Formats: sequence, C-alpha cells, structure tokens
Amino acid sequence: MTDRELINLAKEASKNAYVPYSRFPVGAALECRGGIVFTGCNIENAALGSTICAERTAACKAISEGHRDFVRIAVYGEGEGYCYPCGACRQFLAEFAPEMEVLSAKKDRYVSNKLSELLPHTFNF
Ligand code: THU
Repeated sequence: MTDRELINLAKEASKNAYVPYSRFPVGAALECRGGIVFTGCNIENAALGSTICAERTAACKAISEGHRDFVRIAVYGEGEGYCYPCGACRQFLAEFAPEMEVLSAKKDRYVSNKLSELLPHTFNF
C-alpha cells in the first residue's frame, strides 16, 4: 500500500470522529506486519480527559485483535499544520514499535518520520 493510500484510509476514518467539543476530526490508519490495517478516529467525552485520540483507537483495535507488530501509521487532520501524534499517542505506540514510521498528514501534504525521531527517549522502567 502506498503512503497516499494509507492516508486516504485515515481521512475516511476521520469521518467517524465524535468531536462535539473540539470540532476537530482526526483519523488514523495503522498498518501492521502482513499488511493488515486498523483504522481509528478520535472519540471525545463530556469529561474531556476521557477523550481518546484516533491513533490510540486504532492501536487498541489492532492489539485487541492480536496485532502488535506496527509498521506504519497515517494520522490525518485538516488543521493548519501537519497532524502529528500527541505525546501520549507517541508513548503508547512506542511501547510496541519504537522504530515504526509515522505519516503526519494535513489536507494535501504529509511528512514522514520514524517514531523514534518524534519521541527519542521513551519512558520505560
Ligand atoms: N487528537 C487526536 O485524535 N490525536 C492526536 O494525536 C492529538 C489530538 C484529538 C483529540 C481531540 O479530540 C482533538 O484532537 C483536539 O485535541
């Protein structure tokens, strides 16, 4: 699958976002080893801290279906800048695949980074 195809899946997933508070839909498409893709969207809550990001929705879907071998994730949001994963999502993904690729997209452009570049010193104990 091309980067652009994965980003398009993330864009599609963003259409299911539940965002009555921020009005900022985010979509993610997480590719695992073997090419299987899990998508996710952000799901907000009146207790704002209970909101879950698109990336963690996708990762929880993958892990709960037995896929922890993350290869690449596309994150899509139509803000001014590229839609990079937040700190919590970086740490969450790094638990499983610190060297995975991250495609941070906005409307018609994206940038690619290794997760280890975006979060060079993960928490661990
Ligand atoms: N959001 C994500 O879905 N992913 C991120 O990495 C950062 C932020 C969501 C959470 C909230 O619903 C909205 O974007 C605005 O913060």
